Amino acid sequence: ELIKLSVLIVVFHSIAMHSALSPVDVAVRQRTSLKRDKNGPIRTTRDFRTRNIRNIYESYHRRALTYKSATHTFNITTQVCDRFVFCRVSNPKSSEGLFSLSLSLFFNSAMSVVGFDVGFQSCYVAVARAGGIETVANEYSDRCTPSFVSFGPRNRSIGAAAKSQVVTNCKNTVQGFKRFHGRAFSDPYVQAAKSSLVFDLAQMPTGTTGIKVMYMEEEKVFSIEQVTAMLLNKLKETAEAALKKPVADCVISVPSFFTDAERRSVMDAAQIAGLNCLRLMNDTTAVALAYGIYKQDLPAPEEKPRTVVFVDVGHAGYQVSVCAFNKGKLKVLGSAFDPELGGKDFDEVLVKYFCEEFAQKYKLDVRSKPRALVRLYQECEKLKKLMSANSSDLPLNIECFMNDIDVSGTLNRGKFEEFCAELLAKVEAPLRSIMEQTRLKKEDIYAVEIMGGASRTPAIKDRISKFFGKELSTTLNADEAVARGCALQCAILSPAFKVREFSITEVVPYPISLKWTSAADEGISDCEVFPKNHAAPFSKVLTFYRREPFSLEAYYNNSKELPYPDPTIGQFTIQKVVPQPSGESSKVKVKVRVNVHGVFSVSNASLVEVVKSAEGEEPMEMDTPAKEDEVKSSLLMAFLMVLSIPSHQGIHLGKMIMQDKLEKERNDAKNYVEEYVYEMRDKLHGVLENFVSEDRDSFSLKLEDTENWLYEEGEDQQKQVYIDKLVELKKLGEPIQKRYTEAEERPKALDELGRQIQQYTKVVEAYKAKDELYDHLDELEMMKVDKQVNETMTWMNNKMNLQSKQGLSQDPVVKAQEIQAKTKELYSACNHIVTKPKPKVEPPKEETAAEQNGPQAQSLPALKYFSPAGSTLTEGLWIVFHSYSTIIGLQIYSHDICKHFSSYYLKG
Ligand SMILES: Nc1ncnc2c1ncn2[C@@H]1O[C@H](COP(=O)(O)OP(=O)(O)OP(=O)(O)O)[C@@H](O)[C@H]1O
Ligand SMILES: [Mg+2]
Repeated sequence: ELIKLSVLIVVFHSIAMHSALSPVDVAVRQRTSLKRDKNGPIRTTRDFRTRNIRNIYESYHRRALTYKSATHTFNITTQVCDRFVFCRVSNPKSSEGLFSLSLSLFFNSAMSVVGFDVGFQSCYVAVARAGGIETVANEYSDRCTPSFVSFGPRNRSIGAAAKSQVVTNCKNTVQGFKRFHGRAFSDPYVQAAKSSLVFDLAQMPTGTTGIKVMYMEEEKVFSIEQVTAMLLNKLKETAEAALKKPVADCVISVPSFFTDAERRSVMDAAQIAGLNCLRLMNDTTAVALAYGIYKQDLPAPEEKPRTVVFVDVGHAGYQVSVCAFNKGKLKVLGSAFDPELGGKDFDEVLVKYFCEEFAQKYKLDVRSKPRALVRLYQECEKLKKLMSANSSDLPLNIECFMNDIDVSGTLNRGKFEEFCAELLAKVEAPLRSIMEQTRLKKEDIYAVEIMGGASRTPAIKDRISKFFGKELSTTLNADEAVARGCALQCAILSPAFKVREFSITEVVPYPISLKWTSAADEGISDCEVFPKNHAAPFSKVLTFYRREPFSLEAYYNNSKELPYPDPTIGQFTIQKVVPQPSGESSKVKVKVRVNVHGVFSVSNASLVEVVKSAEGEEPMEMDTPAKEDEVKSSLLMAFLMVLSIPSHQGIHLGKMIMQDKLEKERNDAKNYVEEYVYEMRDKLHGVLENFVSEDRDSFSLKLEDTENWLYEEGEDQQKQVYIDKLVELKKLGEPIQKRYTEAEERPKALDELGRQIQQYTKVVEAYKAKDELYDHLDELEMMKVDKQVNETMTWMNNKMNLQSKQGLSQDPVVKAQEIQAKTKELYSACNHIVTKPKPKVEPPKEETAAEQNGPQAQSLPALKYFSPAGSTLTEGLWIVFHSYSTIIGLQIYSHDICKHFSSYYLKG
């Protein structure tokens, strides 16, 4: 009874723990667990749904209860730890442990561990599955999903499908929107980019940047958050298809140079996409994690760390970071970047060159035609990649480029590098900056890891390598490392996965200051709270002396270094501040924090009532621990007044997804009709030729009519019209198809029946001939077999006779299914009779191994079922219960094996 009770408790805890992520699932399971133990001590489940989900997880972390049976009293302590629930049952008098149980989470399946690398040009999705991290492919079996969203008159397309429309639907196909996150429409970056974009930008009512497109035949303006949410939703679907379960928890990558506003904007996008972003992770830090976590030979914690430089050259940005690795941890020492240097700038140089060349050679103004320009960008990128691998002259040819003119040109790597000299000169500055910031010498660098597509450019590689005076390492996948790092981080943060302990310390990329109106002299005071490269996430407590509510303004104090026009982070108002009863200023503690996403906030503020008055009128103290004479603190509200208010109100992502789905279904329905027409037309003159009755011509005609219809009025119809059309065609086609299938299946079925008849006839004959092999069989029963065999044979001969008179174009006399049923009937009537074993004369002297195992296997069938051959399961004592509808596995004392068990459970 106690064990059963403990089982219920651990199951309950598993549910509570699991509920942190999947409330709906829990609500369902909760009812079942209540039913199971109505009078038992598990009653707290009642308020399950009304409470904050995360709180439930915390509040059930550790719990003790007393269980009283008629004769005994026991203490039961349970604890949730990692993804295990431990339960200890003890005697309250002696506190002697009686037994303990542990249960690994059965319900992990609803938690997702996913990492998204949302790049300027392309995205990657990595998931944790089958004990490893895997980059997963999209519906085109491609692991790279282009960061493109295309809007059409009926639907949207995202990723590869959108990229394929970049030429045909260029005005409504958006790309390169990543860097508009958190930027006002008037932002110089946005204004500069606007002129080179093929699609239109617009100002949102809140002042932020929006994208203007024609969607569903209407002009629409979408915010950047909405467009990124569409892309994220696509990536989410890719992950869901791979994991075969809903995805919510994830980690998303951002460039390390993103400011607060940009990060908050990405978080908003994730929220619109229905994602629960556990961390916004800097690209280079994600890579550092993917690099370090698998390394077995890192220096011990007390030893000198291994210093590695990570360089990511993407499509739009160039990032460098230095990380110090010790066993189980990585610390980012510093980061540097050039947000204006990436693969796209090299494309730009090529496009400029060819625009000039084509203007001269063909008198074409390429920039006046968006479609031509988009094609030129595509071809130039291809040429750029070819030049990375080949230094000879390479051609660039585009047919029917503009005004029906074919254009061509050539270029080689040497010349290209000359054109890009200015860009290439920018490679060194961030490298120099990072060495100065961290005060490291080049000899201190253990390795330089490069990633990002543009890091494949030989001239960039040369410069980096020359700067450090060493060969570059490419141990990581240049395209996928960021996504893999994010998935690893997600696995670390998720209770659903057991990952090697690995701690990550980030840095604050830009120094953050606070300014406020000083109480004493009415002037403005200012203080740097987080200097550049300060460790993050990190909290600090600041102390103020105030009589009334006051405001703090957070800002980046080095606006020269900031790749963003507005240094302000936000205004925070500390409310409800009142003077001390004596009339003196109150001590107010304000907690400021740079969180895991790299976002600054005032996380808490409290008023401290001081019994003895504090000495000195110091306006502010940092990191002051609470003094003993401070007795009471009450929570104050801290309000963040963000300058750019997220502008995604009124988004109907769900509606758009539904619209895309309907459009896809409509297209599929049309494709099915088209496919059927082509397939049947081929078959009518092929395999089905002999199976068509006299109505062949009318069917052929019908197919031809339908084909014409598809190109004319059937081009654009409702889904149901296509469905009806297909039904109409199938009415004619299906009988022919069926006759063909029957003709294929019938001989096989007859063969099988004939084989069985022959087999039983042989036994009957042998029995009649008094063969000693069969002399133990019952005579009456054998007569039955004989009769059944004869009847079946007559049936078969009769059917075969009739069928032989039937032409192929006529419906068959007997169906393959009927023959199979007859075979089954014969088998069940005869098999058990003819295979009856001959009784053994002497009983075996020794028991066989199987018999020895028999009783045990019988009493614990589930154990037998779950034990994988060759495993070490026997190390622990296993008890397996068949409990209600599920099988609950329990293992005593050996938790590692429990993990093993749980995976077998899920498979089972
Ligand atoms: N072999 C190559 N030689 C030169 N450039 C290349 C090569 N392969 C890819 N690239 C370039 O790399 C860039 C894309 O890199 P990547 O996919 O890392 O960017 P992203 O992650 O989308 O952008 P970002 O990191 O800036 O947000 C493109 O400019 C592409 O042309
Ligand atoms: Mg990238």
